[in-house]
Amino acid sequence: LYDLLIKPIVFRFSPERAHHLTMSAWYMALRVPILGGVLSRFFTIKHPSLHRKVFGLTFGNPVGLAAGFDKDGKYYPDLGGLGFGFVEVGTVTPIPQDGNPQPRLFRLLPDEAIINRMGFNNQGAEALAERLRTQPRPKGMIIGGNIGKNKVTANEDATSDYVKCFEILFDVVDYFAVNISSPNTPGLRDLQEKEPLLELLHQLQMQNRKHTKPKPILLKIAPDLTDSQLDDIIDIVQQTKLDGIIATNTTIYRSTLQTPADQINQIGAGGVSGAPLTTRATEVIRYLHTKSGGKIPIIGVGGIMTVQDALDKIAAGAVLIQVYTGLIYTGPGLVKAINKALIQK
Ligand code: FNR
Repeated sequence: LYDLLIKPIVFRFSPERAHHLTMSAWYMALRVPILGGVLSRFFTIKHPSLHRKVFGLTFGNPVGLAAGFDKDGKYYPDLGGLGFGFVEVGTVTPIPQDGNPQPRLFRLLPDEAIINRMGFNNQGAEALAERLRTQPRPKGMIIGGNIGKNKVTANEDATSDYVKCFEILFDVVDYFAVNISSPNTPGLRDLQEKEPLLELLHQLQMQNRKHTKPKPILLKIAPDLTDSQLDDIIDIVQQTKLDGIIATNTTIYRSTLQTPADQINQIGAGGVSGAPLTTRATEVIRYLHTKSGGKIPIIGVGGIMTVQDALDKIAAGAVLIQVYTGLIYTGPGLVKAINKALIQK
């Protein structure tokens, strides 16, 4: 149904417009008497064997929505109806910002991929916190808050931006994702280097421990790190007693893309997500899992386009998984299909 009917319509619109239109359509469909109930029953699957207890939280199922889809927390009340066990809202920054000029989101159809250079367009951490406080949350849904820094904030002052977002969101999210891996904020990924990262995570944990019940903090990393950089990440995560790693964000590598080179050059800068990322993201997960002796919980993300891709991430060591681009190319039925396969296992 998605391939035949919905995708051809959605793909006629620019990707950014399509995103808002489909979520508005979903919002309305869920509110049509009877249809709303039928739809959410169709997409949702519940089973005790899908429950996951990770970093002190109980997830109804291990399939989540990756960061960037619901940056401002507008959609999560309706995303339970698509069967997600958790939603990571954000990335948010302390001050609202517009992000890069449009167009900034591109489909690469031959690659089943997306290039984006959104640049953390968001309404700010306060606006997100207010929505999380006032909007209803689907029963049992875990919400992660993905935090970043403003473009205008120099890297030397980055810690203060992360701590601000952390404090603003502390009471309204279940876990935190520290995003130092987006390719679309100049210099952000330099924070993945050992010294600045240790400092950032140390400060965040100090802030965390001021609360009577600290929240799980995870680090979201790029797929483009070398093995020795991944070794450093493991070291740092263990030293700062972080709760886990989210692997991975989008990639800056484009050498395997099938889309004609002139088309890609015309698009310009941005991170690649979807099918071209599948293998590398799984490799990173496997490396981290093996090297850490399975001691660090990993949320696996990057190019999960099929049920098998999800199973591969889990086999590589991911305890939870997230999807984004697969939702657009394969359709929302992917979430249920993965969960169904996990029950049968
Ligand atoms: C993203 N992603 C992302 N990640 C993040 O930590 N903060 C963000 O704000 C965003 N924004 C964003 C926007 C768009 C349009 C896309 C496509 C992606 C990255 C995303 O969460 C995920 O890590 C990657 O897209 C890889 O997963 P998929 O898309 O291949 O399943």
